[in-house]
Amino acid sequence: MTAFAIIGHLARTDGGFSLNDLPGSGGRMDVLCRCVNASLFLSHDLRRDVDCYLVLCGEPKGPKTVKFSGATVCSLSPDERSAGALIKKVIDIPCGNEFREAAQGVFIRKGGLERLLAERRFAVLDETGTDVREVKDLPDAYLLSDHLNFTEIEEELIRDCPRYSVGPKCLHADHTITVLHNELDRRRC
Ligand SMILES: C[S@@+](CC[C@H](N)C(=O)[O-])C[C@H]1O[C@@H](n2cnc3c(N)ncnc32)[C@H](O)[C@@H]1O
Repeated sequence: MTAFAIIGHLARTDGGFSLNDLPGSGGRMDVLCRCVNASLFLSHDLRRDVDCYLVLCGEPKGPKTVKFSGATVCSLSPDERSAGALIKKVIDIPCGNEFREAAQGVFIRKGGLERLLAERRFAVLDETGTDVREVKDLPDAYLLSDHLNFTEIEEELIRDCPRYSVGPKCLHADHTITVLHNELDRRRC
């Protein structure tokens, strides 16, 4: 099971954002929605062996973590609004510290990066890391940032995580996921 986790530093943590303005009112929720799509979609199919975690850190109730499970998600189509609509649907549903399925294949809980790292070993995707093409055994869980740098606190939490690069240039987070998928596909298929 492959996992991607993306930190949304400004991503809204209640339903007070508009699907017509995911970048502004959503706190760059558009970036996260594209990451969901890059993580889960093939052409006319879904990657059923992938989970995508969105760590929402913005106002007013952060942090919260939303998990899209490729194995069970439905009502998701490959456009930003569709993923955004599912996030909007689940974000205000009361939740505690354990994942609660709030829509089919979409789970939500309180808590953010620290909790996630305590549960699973993530590698950080970072253009300054080791080139994935030079790594014999790639891990199965990857952490990315959104349009912003990791904060000092996050850097401290991920200090001991391995760092891998998909190439020398700084890409958008969703493009990075696509390139990494391609590398994994070539090795597995
Ligand atoms: C748009 S970049 C982050 C913005 C950037 N840190 C800045 O503000 O200058 C989004 C994320 O994609 C990942 N990323 C981008 N390019 C990458 C590369 N060449 N290799 C691995 N990860 C990359 C990193 O996780 C990065 O935090």
